Amino acid sequence: METENIVILVTGASSGIGQAIAKTLAKDPRNIVYGTSRKAADYFSDSRVHMLQMDVTDEQSVASAVEKLIEKEKQIHVLVNCAGFGISGSVESVPVDIAQKQFEVNFFGVVRVIQKVLPFMRAQGRGTIINIGSVAGYISIPFQSMYSASKYALESLSEALRMELAPFNIHVCLVEPGDTRTNFTKSRLKAGKEEIEALYEPARTHAVSVMEEDEQNGYPPEEVAFVVEKIIRKKKPPMRTNVGIEYKLIYILNRILPTGLKLKVLMKKYTGKVAKNLKD
Ligand SMILES: NC(=O)c1ccc[n+]([C@@H]2O[C@H](COP(=O)([O-])OP(=O)(O)OC[C@H]3O[C@@H](n4cnc5c(N)ncnc54)[C@H](OP(=O)(O)O)[C@@H]3O)[C@@H](O)[C@H]2O)c1
Repeated sequence: METENIVILVTGASSGIGQAIAKTLAKDPRNIVYGTSRKAADYFSDSRVHMLQMDVTDEQSVASAVEKLIEKEKQIHVLVNCAGFGISGSVESVPVDIAQKQFEVNFFGVVRVIQKVLPFMRAQGRGTIINIGSVAGYISIPFQSMYSASKYALESLSEALRMELAPFNIHVCLVEPGDTRTNFTKSRLKAGKEEIEALYEPARTHAVSVMEEDEQNGYPPEEVAFVVEKIIRKKKPPMRTNVGIEYKLIYILNRILPTGLKLKVLMKKYTGKVAKNLKD
């Protein structure tokens, strides 16, 4: 077993999955754990997690947090990109500037942090980047399309990045949780314009309630943390790891089911019925 200390940065560590990851990793005395939040508050005053202020949508804020960490530790071995949020609403009615905000946090936020951290990992000749994706990164859910699109984009980025960084001994992984019990549900921005959303009823309300209920009955965030804990010291960490047996199964089914059948199953689950004209 590796005994050396490693420096870890977890974005979005003030709540939910990121908080569970930071707290879990900090229990191992070999791990030096930094977490980030947009707020400067010290969420972990009685633990070993050092909090940094970072807004992943702000280039300067990202640069300054990474500089502070490097000034103190001189190195960074693991980056866990977890900061994120979700929006709901029909494609027709979500204002484009809000959809852009979704990408600013969930996609470009990840890009910003990676760009700031990579020069240090490259100079060290090693590193691991773990992007917290989602089942929604390969399955689109009606009335949550912008969130899914941001996570699909993250999947694509992660695969390309894995190939780009392999020669530098820097590993890139996706951890893909399914429904997880966190503040994600409460923080979901209901972004659609009401007068247009009303045209999609009752499907829209049904879909959002199914999402909310599934999340609140989902896995505790510590389950995701255990998966990350297993990955960080692996010599060859896997490209993708699902969290929970049913999500491993969903991942496989998604690859083998015909798209038409998949959409029928999803439409039934999220909107309550399958439209007759939803053809294969
Ligand atoms: N919950 C689920 O069912 C689920 C499933 C699959 C994937 N995920 C993914 O897991 C990640 C964490 O979500 P969660 O469920 O743990 O939700 P959460 O409890 O709401 O936590 C979200 C975290 O993201 C941070 N954050 C949000 N916007 C930010 C910004 N602009 N800059 C910096 N930090 C920001 C928040 O920190 P501050 O507000 O303190 O800045 C908070 O720490 C997200 O990427 C989400 O897409 C969640």
